Amino acid sequence: MLGSITKIATVASFAALVAAPLHAETAQAISPDGKIWVNVSDDGGQATYSVYYDGELVMEPARLGLLFADHHGFENDLEITGYLRNSVDQTWEQPWGERRLVRDNHNEIAVTFAATEGPERKMTVRFRAFDTGVGFRYELPEQEALRGDIRITDELTQFNIGGDADAWWTPSRQFNRYEYIYRTGKAAVVDDAHTPVTFRQPSGLHISIHEAALVDYSGMSLLALRPGSFEAALRPGSDGIKVNTKAPFKSPWRTIQIAPDAPGLINSDIILNLNEPNKLGDVSWVEPGKYVGIWWAMHIRERTWGNDGVHGANNEDTRRYIDFAAEHGFKGVLVEGWNIGWDGDWFNNGELFNFTEAYPDFDLEALNAYAMSKGVRIIGHHETSGNVANYEAQMGDAFDLYERVGVTQVKTGYVADAGDIVSYDENGVKQYEWHDSQFMVDHHLRAVTEAAKRKISINAHEPVKDTGLRRTYPNWMTREGARGMEFNAWGTPPNPTSHVSTLAFTRMLAGPMDFTPGIFNLRPNEKPSVREDMQRGDASNRPQTTLAKQLALFVVLYSPLQMAADLPEHYEERMDAFQFIKDVPADWEESVALEGEVGEYVAIARQGRGSTDWFLGAVTDGTPREVTVMLDFLEPGETYVAQIYRDGEDAHWDTNPYSYVIENREVTAGEAMTMPLASSGGAAVRFIKQ
Ligand code: NOJ
Ligand code: CA
Repeated sequence: MLGSITKIATVASFAALVAAPLHAETAQAISPDGKIWVNVSDDGGQATYSVYYDGELVMEPARLGLLFADHHGFENDLEITGYLRNSVDQTWEQPWGERRLVRDNHNEIAVTFAATEGPERKMTVRFRAFDTGVGFRYELPEQEALRGDIRITDELTQFNIGGDADAWWTPSRQFNRYEYIYRTGKAAVVDDAHTPVTFRQPSGLHISIHEAALVDYSGMSLLALRPGSFEAALRPGSDGIKVNTKAPFKSPWRTIQIAPDAPGLINSDIILNLNEPNKLGDVSWVEPGKYVGIWWAMHIRERTWGNDGVHGANNEDTRRYIDFAAEHGFKGVLVEGWNIGWDGDWFNNGELFNFTEAYPDFDLEALNAYAMSKGVRIIGHHETSGNVANYEAQMGDAFDLYERVGVTQVKTGYVADAGDIVSYDENGVKQYEWHDSQFMVDHHLRAVTEAAKRKISINAHEPVKDTGLRRTYPNWMTREGARGMEFNAWGTPPNPTSHVSTLAFTRMLAGPMDFTPGIFNLRPNEKPSVREDMQRGDASNRPQTTLAKQLALFVVLYSPLQMAADLPEHYEERMDAFQFIKDVPADWEESVALEGEVGEYVAIARQGRGSTDWFLGAVTDGTPREVTVMLDFLEPGETYVAQIYRDGEDAHWDTNPYSYVIENREVTAGEAMTMPLASSGGAAVRFIKQ
C-alpha cells in the first residue's frame, strides 16, 4: 500500500460536477507499523482527511482549510496537484526529560492543494503518521496571491470523533483559563474544549487531540460543530483577527494521538517529535531538580505575599528554607512575594509590580550569596497579574538582576481572568488579550529567549498550554496550565479524587506540569489561625488523597522542576515518608506508563537519569483497588530491593489518610507486583539494583 495513490471515481451530483474535478484524488500516509492510515482527499473540491486504525474508519472525512481577510483563502474549488513522501527513523537525545532517547519514526506525505477558481494559489498540508498517531500542519509558501500581511480569520480544520465517544475535557474561554475540574461525558456534549482533549470511542480506541509547536500563531480549542464533530477554534487577538502573519508561514501541528489503551497515550512522543530541535545550543546550564519554597504558607494563610507583618519572603524564613533545602538535598528555594507590588489587591493592580525592588525585610543579594554558599539556588518569581505591558517594560532589567545575583530559574505568573491580559497597541491604546492568543504565544517566547540569554530557565504559571517547545527551547522547563495543588488550599471545591488519574491522560500529554505535590499536612485549614484577621480557608479545602498518594505524585506527574510543596515543619513530622521525596529524581532515563484507565487509576515507572534505580508511582481515584503491574522494565536477571511506600489496610483519603506502610522486598525483573490502593490512595516504590 505504501507509496501508492488510489484514484476514486467520484459519484458526483450535478452540483458537485460543476464545482469539483471529475476525479477526486486520495493521497495516503501509513504509520510504520501499518496500523494507522490517514487519507487525504480533494473530493468535491474540498480538502479533507480521514483516519483509519487497524483497517477501520475511526475519524470520518473532515475539512481542512484557511480563510483570510483581504485575500482569497482555501475553502472550496481545491484540487490535489501533487505530493511528496518522506520517511524518518531517527533517535535524538533530550538534555533532560521523561526519557533520554526519543525515537522519531514516521512516514510523511506533504500534499499540495491548488485553487481551481480565483487567483492562482496553493497550500501544502504536511501529514506525519507515527505508530502512536498523526500530526499535520499547513504550510503556505510565498506567492503572488498572498502578498502583504495575511490575517487569518478562520482555520477550517475539523476533527470527527463521533458523538458516542467518552470525553475528558476542560472548558475553553472561561475565566479560570486552564484551571478547571475535568468534565466527563459523551463527546456529543463537549461544546468548547481546551486541548489536549481525550476521547475513548465505543471500540475502546483512545484518541487525544492537541497541537505541537505553537509558535507565532494563536492557540486552538475544539468547538463543537455537530455532536462529536469539532472545528479548530483559534483564539482571536484584540483586533478580532485570529492570526497576523505573512507568507511564507507554517501553522502549528494539529495532533491526533491514537492508542488501543489509555497508557498508550502516555507512551507517545508525537508532540516532542513534531517540534524543532534545540535552538539554544549548549544547555548544560538548564538544570532539572527538586525545590522547596516560600509558597504553600501563603496559600494556607499563615504568611502573605505583601508587607503586612506576616510577610513570607523575609530574611529569617528564607534562611530557614535554604537550610532545610541544603540539609535534605533540594537544589532550589522558590521565594514568592519578595518584590514590591503585592500590597493591596494584587490580582487587579498588575501595574504596581516592580520586578527589581525588594521589600525592606528581604536582602536579595545576601540571601542569594547565602544560598549559593550552601549549594542551593534561590528560584526567582515574576507575578505579572496579567499586566504584560508592565512586565515587558521591566523584563530585561528584571532578568539582568537575577543573573547578577545568581538566580538561574524563574517562575512567572499571569493571574488574570482569561481574556484580561493587558497590552497596549501601536497607538498606545490599552487592549485586553486571551492567555492563549497569538499575543501571549509571542510574549512567552520573548520571555523564554530573553531568559536564555542570561542562562535562566522558566516555569510559567497561568501560561499558554504546552505544545512541546521544551525541545526547541530547553530552558522552558515546566509550567502550570491545569488545576494544581493550590486548589486544595482555597479552591472550592478542591481537586476531586479523580483529578490526578485524569490529568495523567489529558493535561500531562502536553508536557511537564508544575503541580507542586507532596503535601503532608492533609488538613491545613484546621490549623489555628496565625492572626485574628487571617482566617484559614474553608476546612473542606484540603488534598483529597492519602499521604501515600502524595508520594506517588512525584512519579506520576512528570516535571523536571518538582516542588516538595509543604512546609519544612510538616515534613519534619514524618521523616520516614519524606525519605521517598528525598530519593526520587526529577530527571529520567526512561519512562513507561504501565496500567490505567482515564480518570480511574494509573501506574507509571521511570528510571533515574544516569542511575540503575527505577521508581514507580500508582494512584487511584475514590475507588480502592489492587493494581498489578509486571516488573518488565527492570533489567532481566537482576534482583532489586523494592522500597515500598503504600497505603495501610485501613487507609482512606477522607477518614484515615495518614495510614501508610513502608516495607522492603526483594523482587526480580519480570515478576508481577500487586499494590493495594485505598480510596484516593497511592503507592510509591524505589527499586534499588543489588
Ligand atoms: C498563582 C500560581 O499558580 C501560584 O503558584 C502563585 O503562588 C500565585 N499565583 C501568586 O503568584
Ligand atoms: Ca494558578
